[in-house]
Amino acid sequence: MGKVNVIAIDGPAGSGKSTVAKRLAKRLGFLYIDTGAMYRALTLKAINEGVDFMDEKALIELSRKTDIELKDEGGSLRVYLDKKEVSEPIRTMQVTGKVKYVASIGGVRENMVKLQRSLGACSSGAVLEGRDIGTVVFPDALHKFYLDASFKTRAKRRFDELKEKGFSITLEEVEKDVRDRDASDKKRSIGPLKKAEDARVIDTTDMTVDEVVEYILKKINEKK
Ligand code: CDP
Repeated sequence: MGKVNVIAIDGPAGSGKSTVAKRLAKRLGFLYIDTGAMYRALTLKAINEGVDFMDEKALIELSRKTDIELKDEGGSLRVYLDKKEVSEPIRTMQVTGKVKYVASIGGVRENMVKLQRSLGACSSGAVLEGRDIGTVVFPDALHKFYLDASFKTRAKRRFDELKEKGFSITLEEVEKDVRDRDASDKKRSIGPLKKAEDARVIDTTDMTVDEVVEYILKKINEKK
């Protein structure tokens, strides 16, 4: 089987994946798939339904009967959970703090990966961003990138982003969240955050979003 027309972008929180992936998809006319938003949506549903985060079976069952859709509305990605828009509530610190429980369960990941593959395969081209895109979801992606940046830079970016959205939060709280999520994303046994062997690493610490996008486009064109 040939390689699929997918650009896989993986990396830790605050490495710039979302902004870069969004812009890249727009430039190429590709579908943009934010896989983190899917794990967040499921986490929100578990909170709303009072599911015990230690109950793996219940969380797997929940992932099986949950409808998650990503829609491009006027150039911005909107997330729908069981037909209801949840683009904003999935970004709260409450959801961010709980997502690790959902994301570390193999049965949940299987269902999410299935959905991600079917979305990517239906499109004529897609940019997927997450933690395990190049390793698990689309190991046969045409292009793979792994974005990273220093811890301080990543935490500061996330802090600025949350502030801009109006969240009242301290830099220390954000640093703690990023540190915790880095650790749990790397250590889980299924679909951990990991660079695919054939992924190109980009250290975005001292790069602007535009520079990263241009660099990726250049690398993609070189391969054609
Ligand atoms: O934007 P940020 O990097 O903070 O996170 P996100 O992409 O919205 O993902 C939220 C969480 O979902 C991550 O911390 C991961 O634990 C999980 N996730 C995952 O396990 N696998 C993915 N492919 C994407 C996200």
